[in-house]
Amino acid sequence: MDYETPQFFRVMQYAADADRDVVDMVSGNPDWEPPEALREGLVDYADGDVSEFQYPPSVGLTELRTEIAERRGVDRSRVLVTNGAGEANHLATTGALERCDGSELIMTDPVYPYYAGRANLLDAESTFTPVDETGQLDPADVRAAASDETAAVVVNSPNNPTGAVYPPETIEALVAVAEDHDAVLVADEVYDHYDFTGAFESALAADSDHVVATNSFSKTLAITGLRVGYAVFPPEDGPLGDLVERARTRHMIQNVAGSRPAQAAVLRALRETPPEYYERNRERLRDRVDRFTEALDAAGAEYTTPGGSFYVMARFDGFPGTMANVERLIDEAGVAGMPGEAFGESRADWIRFALVTPRVEAAAERLADYLG
Ligand SMILES: Cc1ncc(COP(=O)(O)O)c(C=O)c1O
Repeated sequence: MDYETPQFFRVMQYAADADRDVVDMVSGNPDWEPPEALREGLVDYADGDVSEFQYPPSVGLTELRTEIAERRGVDRSRVLVTNGAGEANHLATTGALERCDGSELIMTDPVYPYYAGRANLLDAESTFTPVDETGQLDPADVRAAASDETAAVVVNSPNNPTGAVYPPETIEALVAVAEDHDAVLVADEVYDHYDFTGAFESALAADSDHVVATNSFSKTLAITGLRVGYAVFPPEDGPLGDLVERARTRHMIQNVAGSRPAQAAVLRALRETPPEYYERNRERLRDRVDRFTEALDAAGAEYTTPGGSFYVMARFDGFPGTMANVERLIDEAGVAGMPGEAFGESRADWIRFALVTPRVEAAAERLADYLG
């Protein structure tokens, strides 16, 4: 399996070039509105003073970091604003590889392909721990895989692509593995506002010196194009206290700083957006999950029912989730998903569908007509 180049953009392009109407369920790009205050923040920004058009602090706007720190219950010094969770994950992982002994990254199978691609890019040793059929990770498997060579355990909950939400006990046990091996638990929590179970708890709750929590406003505020994310590093006075300073320096050398207008608009949105906005988005997704999976039932497909995130995985008898089959579905059924094989071996037979379109029933009906 080639993890060098994640395949999302290839499939999106294939669907866009198709000579027919295609229901696009490839990417994690929300089709719902960002908060009103976000749009207002961007509009008002255009009238700002010239100083507002200059470099922000490299670590992120102070007020935004304060807002994040208060929400996450951590000291502001631990918060670095990044170019999306993508950069936050990169800083967390490279920090662990540099700082901790060992060159191994433990990930799950299925895996969010950018983690695996990053491991390749960094010449790290990749170990994949399969999750069970419900998408849950058994921390005992991670413990069995871990060794002195382990620099980081990289997990994502609510999960892309399985939709699993790991219970607090799983996260606590994973934190213990990281602590026992002088490693870092990188906990990617970008879908934390899309937990339908109510069971999600941030890895920061473990209050450990061995956790880096990464997050983003890409999904939370439906703004994947604005590129604002963040990482919360361990406290500076703890055993891995130098991780945050390493990350600040890397971030500065690589980017100089992040986007000031985007950060300002996010700050305004955080301050002014009521909880109903987030609940409405969860409700919309719950409804889409119900409608899509009911229609998949009619197609005789096996599927996952997500506890969180945006995705449903489906398996169709005799039609494995290869890239060739996904391209066939685009051309011949008019539905675009992501091949399961892009996420590893354990879900190679499956296809992942992102519920980022209101046309979920139409998509499932097309699948039923073509494959049923
Ligand atoms: C698990 C996971 N982490 C990170 C990202 C990237 O987030 P960002 O847009 O904040 O870089 C995604 C995007 O789909 C994701 O699914």
